[in-house]
Amino acid sequence: MSEADERAIVRSEIRWAVVAIAAVSVIMLAVIFAAIAMHINPPSNVERINPQDLHLSAEFTEANLGTKVEANGQITARIVATQFAFVPRCVVLPADRPVTLRFSSPDVIHGLLVSGTNVNTMVVPGYVSQVHTVLRKTGDLLMPCHEYCGLGHSEMSGTIRVVPSAQFRPGPDGRVACAAK
Ligand code: CUA
Repeated sequence: MSEADERAIVRSEIRWAVVAIAAVSVIMLAVIFAAIAMHINPPSNVERINPQDLHLSAEFTEANLGTKVEANGQITARIVATQFAFVPRCVVLPADRPVTLRFSSPDVIHGLLVSGTNVNTMVVPGYVSQVHTVLRKTGDLLMPCHEYCGLGHSEMSGTIRVVPSAQFRPGPDGRVACAAK
């Protein structure tokens, strides 16, 4: 190969390298612009929580888990995803009303979906995963963990018990729990 040929190849390689760097830069700038200017962030809302003591204070203490109707009427279920269970194992929610599910993990990354619904999120330690939805089907919906989280992963699942709105009766403290079966 002549020297001129080699120089031509090197020039071609540099041109393509510039194209690749430019494409990556454009994509990076678009991501940064979306995050800063348009507040488009990863699908789970960016809400941080300390995974080491989330069960000791504030929102995800044991007494605060499960379904609660807030003072403003908003229905929220708080669930801890931990190796290898959802706590509580079963939550009650009404059908055909807007509900919010909030999850956090004290250990490793978990994930979940609620069968037959659009609820599907990862639960990353250090963050609160929040899902808004309206559940249309009544009955016990299976909520398996769908992110490999250790040896007990395949045993990790919970239940979302969807009851007709008329049968959704919170107690005086606004709480609703699954009746023992
Ligand atoms: Cu939790 Cu897999």
